[in-house]
Amino acid sequence: MINKNKRYVIANWKMKLGHQQSIDLAKELKKKYKGDEEVELVVCPSASALSAVGEIFKSSPIKLGAQDIFYHDFGAYTGQISPAVAREVGCEYVIVGHSEARKLGETDEDVNRKIVTALKNNLTPIVCVGETFREYEEKKTELVIVAQVTKALEDIKLNDGQKIIIAYEPVWVIGSGQAVDHNIFQHIVQIIAHTAVEIGAALANKFEVIYGGSVDEENVSEFIMGNISTGVIVGNNSLEADKLIKILNNIR
Ligand code: PGA
Repeated sequence: MINKNKRYVIANWKMKLGHQQSIDLAKELKKKYKGDEEVELVVCPSASALSAVGEIFKSSPIKLGAQDIFYHDFGAYTGQISPAVAREVGCEYVIVGHSEARKLGETDEDVNRKIVTALKNNLTPIVCVGETFREYEEKKTELVIVAQVTKALEDIKLNDGQKIIIAYEPVWVIGSGQAVDHNIFQHIVQIIAHTAVEIGAALANKFEVIYGGSVDEENVSEFIMGNISTGVIVGNNSLEADKLIKILNNIR
């Protein structure tokens, strides 16, 4: 059973920081963030900074996440990120299916294979789903979400203690400064939950739904109030320690 009181804040630094900047921000966060039993802060630096940032977080409550992995552990796959190595350098989480990766060619099948490999390496997958602006305008949001969740979770089996985090991130809202209305999000949470349960009883109680897209210190509480979800992914507003800490303070 999932602890529904636990909140997740996933900081997605994307490819927005230099190597030294990542190290400096990690150190500042470690100094300023004292940890909270009810909140899991997961920082996802770029792949090249994973190892250095992982070292910094070792003696801190902050968890490390990768922004992507490949679906094989080792082999002749130039340029890919090994899930086994991600785990080795301290990752406990990995983002898969982010719209920015999908835009560059990641398919639903890739997402599914990456989830399998993540779980095999004991990485908790944070699976992003969401519609484009065009799909939103054409009122296809529900169709897109059901299709993405169904394909992502096909034949996924979870061992005891494993879980999957599904992040609803409307593509057109990411980086826009304007989050979606929390009522819309609440409706999508129900659709995702229903779809995940339809796929198989094996997944019931083993997944969580979080929100991503222009989360800030003002709106963060809307996405968790009344327990509609258990957390958020934060992009732009995770690039400054003080802003991220305000979000962490406001999510309780
Ligand atoms: P944003 O990014 O907070 O800058 O909108 C979120 C994301 O892409 O995960």
